[in-house]
Amino acid sequence: MPYSGENQAYAPEALIADDIAAYLDAQQHKEMLRFITCGSVDDGKSTLIGRLLYDSKMIFEDQLTALEGDSAKHGTQGDAIDFALLVDGLAAEREQGITIDVAYRFFATEKRKFIVADTPGHEQYTRNMVTGASTADLAVILVDARKGVLEQTKRHSFLVHLLGIRHLVLAVNKMDLVGYDQAIFDRIVADYQIFAKEIGAEAFTPIPISGFKGDNITTAPSANTPWYAGSSLIDHLETVELANTRAQERAFRMPVQWVNRPNLDFRGFAGLISGGSVKPGDPVRIVPSGKTSKVKRIVSFDGDQDEAVAGQSVTLTLKDEVDCSRGDVIAAADDPPEASDQFEATIVWMDEQAMKPGRGYWLKLGSQTVTANVQAPKYEICVNTFEHLAAKTLKLNGIGVAELRTDRPITFEPYANSRQLGGFILIDKYTNATVAAGMIHFSLRRAQNVHWQATEIGRDHHAALKNQKPRVLWFTGLSGSGKSTIANEVEKRLNLMNRHTFLLDGDNVRHGLNKDLGFTETDRIENIRRIGEVAKLMTDAGLIVLTAFISPFRAERRMVREMLPEGEFIEIFVDTPLEVAEQRDVKGLYKKAREGQLKNFTGIDSPYEAPENAEIRVNTVDITPAEAADYIIEQIMPLK
Ligand code: ADX
Repeated sequence: MPYSGENQAYAPEALIADDIAAYLDAQQHKEMLRFITCGSVDDGKSTLIGRLLYDSKMIFEDQLTALEGDSAKHGTQGDAIDFALLVDGLAAEREQGITIDVAYRFFATEKRKFIVADTPGHEQYTRNMVTGASTADLAVILVDARKGVLEQTKRHSFLVHLLGIRHLVLAVNKMDLVGYDQAIFDRIVADYQIFAKEIGAEAFTPIPISGFKGDNITTAPSANTPWYAGSSLIDHLETVELANTRAQERAFRMPVQWVNRPNLDFRGFAGLISGGSVKPGDPVRIVPSGKTSKVKRIVSFDGDQDEAVAGQSVTLTLKDEVDCSRGDVIAAADDPPEASDQFEATIVWMDEQAMKPGRGYWLKLGSQTVTANVQAPKYEICVNTFEHLAAKTLKLNGIGVAELRTDRPITFEPYANSRQLGGFILIDKYTNATVAAGMIHFSLRRAQNVHWQATEIGRDHHAALKNQKPRVLWFTGLSGSGKSTIANEVEKRLNLMNRHTFLLDGDNVRHGLNKDLGFTETDRIENIRRIGEVAKLMTDAGLIVLTAFISPFRAERRMVREMLPEGEFIEIFVDTPLEVAEQRDVKGLYKKAREGQLKNFTGIDSPYEAPENAEIRVNTVDITPAEAADYIIEQIMPLK
């Protein structure tokens, strides 16, 4: 046996992969390979993982006893142990607590230690696979020898390739059930070859195995496959090149995770080196500020180091007192990464709620968090045929290519060069759910070439000349609620007080600036985004802007609020119940909508999300528009 199966304690299940990694690191300095297994229970995935754990003796004695007992109960023949019971048993334990979609297990051999991400193959497979594959060096694609390459085999391979895994093992399992027939193995390999080429997978390693019987798992060739000249699965896992080895050849980068300042004499920047290597004395640049310094010390768990490389977590101290905080990247001074606020990326959508193009989501890339708007996809990729399809949005498990804009520049690298600096997630601002994972391709030229023009007559000048403080009075409410009428009354009153105002009204703006937009969710989001930008420019010009748009979504109203300085956005909820607005039906649109002649009508077949904490709420049932306007004026004065 080529490995010893050292007697390490099994890590608590609650630890996540990184903790396990750190735990193992502290114990021994072996290289680590992370890999993912893809396939369904039927393909023998649990059995294979159980076998790997068992053969490297990473199982507690009592678990083993229980397993032998269970296998007997389940009627397994002879002294064979049903390894699937082991893995599924661990999963069952875990499921009593919170549901973890990806199970990480570890084991070690003499040469390496391993973390295997085991992702369940059910309908959430995309989300789980993305999670498991995003940190893996290698993927074991399991195929049942009796079934050959299936649609799911292709889908899994496509996904792991997309996520940057460059080592694929095609494990043709259950060879025992096809009489160890070489012809069957060869045919599966040939089938797989055709499509591996299609997805651009340069090479893969096919291995005929039996997870159940143990053929070609630890030693090869098995007596049953004399025709196979390659290595065993374990041998391959022990010798394949690690992603970190490649990353070490690139320029130095370390995203700062936190600043360690235990006392005034020490200021260290802690993080995981994502690329290259670093030595004391190396010149470095802090991105995005561009400040430079030199590395003073490399502090680690085991004392100061002479050098640190990609894949290691360290704390750096610098020779100069430069500003550097969480989210910054410390990089090679002569080859720093880019910063940009517009990119193209591949997006994997992972939420039940479809992507809303134009909506602002939190984008987290390493330790940086910004607001990002995703544009409508350029195309969606069919995971079965790899065709590019036209798409307006991405639904659960959809994969597409789209452009993103962020509210401030982030430091990044193409995902192909760095997973840490090129991979990101999107988070819904309201539900806090992770809705997508993304991989940056490149930044858009226009972002690099358009700079903010500093003008000499600033917004304060404009406002001062007009002797007022700019505001946006944002009216929101159903169609026919009275927004335009009340806004008009408010504007008249403001003008009598010599205020400089401008009223932007939904119906009017839709005849000009926004005449290309309809009433789908996407168009409404874009409608409000543009109005927000225009309103902002008008406040820069010193005006008091009144806007009368249904603006049905909280997220976009909040987006406009966040675009403006604190206190300048005043949300006014014209709170007219649907029944009342429908009864008034000034434009006859409710009638049309009810008769099915008008689609996506707010309140009928398109939602309205009422404000939760508008600054001002007016009720139009008991008071007249004039009274409502008086009330609003009272609330907003003085405007200085
Ligand atoms: S918003 O939802 O994008 O904010 P906006 O305020 O610009 O809507 O436009 C709403 C006006 O467009 C309504 O007052 C109504 O006159 C008209 N309209 C036409 N079709 C629709 C529709 N399907 N839903 C709502 N309003 C519509």
